[in-house]
Amino acid sequence: MKVLIADSLHADGIKIFEEQGFQLEIHKSISAAELAKAIKGVDGLVIRSATTVTNELLDQADVLKVVGRAGAGLDNVDIPAATAHKVAVMNTPGQNSNAAAELAMAHIFSLSRNLTKANSTMRAGRWEKKNLQGREVKGKTLGILGLGNIGRILAELATGVKMRAIGLDPYLTPVQIKERGVEPVSFDELLERSDFISIHVPKSKETANLFNAATMAKMKKGAYLINCARGGIVNEEDLCDAVLGGHLAGAALDVFDTEPLPANARILQVDDIVCTPHLGADTFESQINVAIAVAKQMSEYLKTGYNEFVVNR
Ligand code: NAD
Ligand code: MLT
Repeated sequence: MKVLIADSLHADGIKIFEEQGFQLEIHKSISAAELAKAIKGVDGLVIRSATTVTNELLDQADVLKVVGRAGAGLDNVDIPAATAHKVAVMNTPGQNSNAAAELAMAHIFSLSRNLTKANSTMRAGRWEKKNLQGREVKGKTLGILGLGNIGRILAELATGVKMRAIGLDPYLTPVQIKERGVEPVSFDELLERSDFISIHVPKSKETANLFNAATMAKMKKGAYLINCARGGIVNEEDLCDAVLGGHLAGAALDVFDTEPLPANARILQVDDIVCTPHLGADTFESQINVAIAVAKQMSEYLKTGYNEFVVNR
């Protein structure tokens, strides 16, 4: 059986596919047009966030049985179309969560102590000690939207540095939220009470554009917004306005409407918005974890027709 790897995958995952006897076609990246040709004769397709699996691509596939996402988000896969084509879809839950939670925490510290501004002003030859006074996170309220694998680790990190964690996850009971060390709140309370809000939900019909002019206006004046989840959950134009207008003190984004983010994007011109290029899962540790997990899961599925992480059984 043949497996096509469409985005870069750590060698430890490739080794597992080889040991399991799969024929491999390996790409570090591949265009949609190239993939539509290459998909013929492929039993398993490995993707990360750069490859989109559409109905049109699935129409081209003749023997495809499984799409494996080396990561968490599945918003780049048309799952109903995969189901209609009898193609299983799986992700690797939990395998990059620590990396993403640590990046969110790093952004919280960086925003509260003006680290990126301190660095850029020093490089420009200025010693702006008096303008860069920060705030401590101790005692501040962190609102966490989504208390799944990443949100719950962030809650542990936040309580470890003595922040108060409040949060919302409609798919968990209040008891489950409390078990994560988080006070359950409504969406409005999350907006109104948080000094920092960090987003850890999938992009879906409910979450697209959830942070817009109206909802950001309900946030506490001087609060910070952090999005390490998916582009499109935060309205980038409205965020620029909220920060430039002084309602929000700043924001950090790891994910964008368009990736790679164009160099002329307005969001890059706003001093108090810190941007990172989708680095949430990019640690050495997490890339090994996701590669091993996706290779083991897909091998099991291709050999037995079963794996517990199939989302469209
Ligand atoms: P997860 O599935 O473990 O957790 C997501 C949680 O969000 C679930 O508990 C779910 O119940 C909750 N949720 C869904 N809709 C919600 C809503 N409307 N309001 C509040 N909560 C809601 O996923 P995860 O591993 O924690 O990852 C979360 C998202 O982060 C992924 O879907 C992915 O898009 C993104 N992500 C980004 C990076 C990165 O590199 N920046 C890395 C990993 C994951
Ligand atoms: C994910 O959803 O896992 C992330 O976007 C990370 C990635 O694919 O690199």
